[in-house]
Amino acid sequence: MSKTFYIETFGCQMNAHDSEKVVGTLEQQGYAQVQDEADAGLILYNTCSIRDKAEQKVFHRLNEYKKLQGEGKKFAVIGCVAQQEGEKIFDKAPYVSIVAGSASYRNLPGMLDRLERGDSRITGLDDKKTTETFETPFVARTNPHRGYITIIEGCDKFCAYCVVPYTRGNERSRTAASVMEEATRMADAGFTEIQLLGQNVNSYRDPSGKMTFAELLQAVGTIPGIRRVRFTTSHPRDFTKDIVDVIDATPTLCDHIHLPVQSGSSRILKAMAREYTREWYLERIAWMKAAKRDLSLTSDIIVGFPGETDADLEDTATLLDVVGYDAIFAFKFSPRPNTPAEHLADSLSDEVKSARLQILLDRQREIQRINYDRHLGQVMEVMVEGYNKARNQIIGRSSQNKTVNFTTTQLIMPATGTYHQVRITQTFPNSLVGEALAAPGRVQ
Ligand code: 5AD
Ligand code: SF4
Repeated sequence: MSKTFYIETFGCQMNAHDSEKVVGTLEQQGYAQVQDEADAGLILYNTCSIRDKAEQKVFHRLNEYKKLQGEGKKFAVIGCVAQQEGEKIFDKAPYVSIVAGSASYRNLPGMLDRLERGDSRITGLDDKKTTETFETPFVARTNPHRGYITIIEGCDKFCAYCVVPYTRGNERSRTAASVMEEATRMADAGFTEIQLLGQNVNSYRDPSGKMTFAELLQAVGTIPGIRRVRFTTSHPRDFTKDIVDVIDATPTLCDHIHLPVQSGSSRILKAMAREYTREWYLERIAWMKAAKRDLSLTSDIIVGFPGETDADLEDTATLLDVVGYDAIFAFKFSPRPNTPAEHLADSLSDEVKSARLQILLDRQREIQRINYDRHLGQVMEVMVEGYNKARNQIIGRSSQNKTVNFTTTQLIMPATGTYHQVRITQTFPNSLVGEALAAPGRVQ
């Protein structure tokens, strides 16, 4: 087998970052990444199983790989579908050599050794109860300005609809010292933005007992060279007021909190085993609205959970109004294998779920139109992400995580990763348009 690999990644930011660590580990083992599967000796498929018959899509894809096995290629299925389906993958696709869930990635070097010795049916599936995290100095970060750091892996919350506790194993945090060391190394390497990651990032518990999550946020935010710190995803159950206080006190912590509510109906929240009520959630939102900073709030919503009535949906719609989110990610409930909600009665038809989804999206669009319109005339700091040649605009992002497309009178286009002061001249429900201020107002 040639020591080249191709990797394809699906799913959340945790998965995207896992792939960066997997790539780093493979490179450390002497493998070279290629951008075309035709050139690869090893094809890795980092899978997601959060919704929508994900496992069927994976098997469909593996079928396509079948014809490549004759060329001597090897295959590894990793991530959430790998953990969920386990050895069944070998039965359905015998040409796959490695099946590993994310809790086993720290054992990847050993798995690769076995692969090179010609072993087949190599598994990394038994680490769901581990207390270890996947920490490696070898991370192939794809963006040189903004980078992820996983601070907590796994999930112990067991919401009734969710596969994650079954696919990513139990909750385990890295020490604050190890997070700080990685963040400092990144700052030294020129990164200015750090995104702290965890399935429930604010459930972080320093195993050495030295720092709370809020203290860790502040510590990362005061590393010289770091200009922006984000964190995702927060769980309302563990959302404490000191997080808002530390954002108020630390300018580098971004003006954005993603706090998935899932439903605005306390009855449905109970059925989902979210362990909070609408009122309890709104109390946390009230802390954020009382902050000195203008915090942008975003959320995830599930519509059509079994037993959801029109009245429950209306509770979610009114919650959107009360909170005034800047963005929501809304999904139709999809039953997932082995979860408590998989076989619940009162399931709703796809038509009903789609109609309810549309009601919420329409309502949310109107909220965003008003929210984004408030930025007209404001000046905000924007980090450059890229260019839109067709529209001759620079694409960037504000501290609130809003997309800002802007123009400049400077002759030289600003480099990606630089920060600029931009005046907003036009607003849309999903993006802002502006002009960079002339040089004196420019930062960096
Ligand atoms: N069906 C629909 N949406 C789901 N999510 C998680 N599990 C399911 C499911 N079974 C959504 C939640 C979560 C987001 C990442 O995906 O809203 O916050
Ligand atoms: Fe998908 Fe959830 Fe796994 Fe992320 S943790 S890859 S969203 S199933």
